Amino acid sequence: MFHPLRVRAIERLTDDSVAVTLAVPAELRETFRYKPGQHLNVRYTVDGEEIRRSYSICAPAAEASADPALRVGIRLVDGGAFSTYALKELAVGDQVEAMPPMGRFVLTPRAGHFAAIVGGSGITPVLSIASTLLAREPEARFCLIRSDRTAASTMFLDEVADLKDRYPDRFQLVTVLSREEQQAGLPSGRLDRERLTGLLPALLSVDEVDGWYLCGPLGLVVAAERALHGLGVGRTRIHQEIFHVDDGPAEAVRARVEAPAHSTLTATLDGRSGSWPVQDGESLLETVLRSRSDAPYACKGGVCGTCRAFLVSGEVRMDRNFALEPEETGAGYVLACQSHPVTSEVELDFDR
Ligand code: FES
Repeated sequence: MFHPLRVRAIERLTDDSVAVTLAVPAELRETFRYKPGQHLNVRYTVDGEEIRRSYSICAPAAEASADPALRVGIRLVDGGAFSTYALKELAVGDQVEAMPPMGRFVLTPRAGHFAAIVGGSGITPVLSIASTLLAREPEARFCLIRSDRTAASTMFLDEVADLKDRYPDRFQLVTVLSREEQQAGLPSGRLDRERLTGLLPALLSVDEVDGWYLCGPLGLVVAAERALHGLGVGRTRIHQEIFHVDDGPAEAVRARVEAPAHSTLTATLDGRSGSWPVQDGESLLETVLRSRSDAPYACKGGVCGTCRAFLVSGEVRMDRNFALEPEETGAGYVLACQSHPVTSEVELDFDR
């Protein structure tokens, strides 16, 4: 469910990014309390068209009873309707509709050694994760490896520098710039699997890291995951969130499977069920949306995970999945925006 929230502040971070803070009225504080690493789904209507996007929260998670500062990072995406609007038109006092925070790319503060590899705006949820962890858990350490094009295009430079000043013994920062030479000794160029495989063991004791957080464009996240696997890091210690997936033949796109001529979808949402015919070529999310405009979604691209539903019966094929972990798909969860029926009857439950 969406709630109208007022824009309290807008700060320019770089030429192409801003941080937007939304005010949360006292009666919605519990609804908008978030875990470090979660994101907000927002919607806005531009020229009669509803646009939804998800943006990660960058602020440290507030202690109970405190005002949750809903500060999100937004980077301009070429042709991106909401980011263009946020950077060029959005003003303090405007109203934005937002769903309660969600997402499973989270780190509950605990003692241990954690590390993140991020690219571009992928710093946004990791900033919340690292700042909450270091403030709340004196026995925790965090190593941040971030890659960007240039220093001028790097989001949250001051906030990250502040972490370094505040926790000199517990926060380690390595910045890799792909299009700019750095001072002697600091790496530059693109971070790919090979470079990460060499760099990581030189920076820290890879085996002793309790949790790895990978966030950014698909290419970087896949490269980092492969490098970590190659270095012997088990899957359960790797968490990832993908921010951009180029359209086209992504490697996760599955082969086309013949769809049945007619199929019927039964779906439960907010305790109410309905059954509808699935029209040719549409996703199961689109089938539900034709009758239930409250069906949850944001990206419609298999990236944000908002449309996650439990497959109660039948079979589906997903075009692509950059949001669900193997444990979730193994347990029977699917992304409705990417699912198409393989059997003539399919049942989904959005409430589980
Ligand atoms: S709406 Fe984002 S993954 Fe389906």
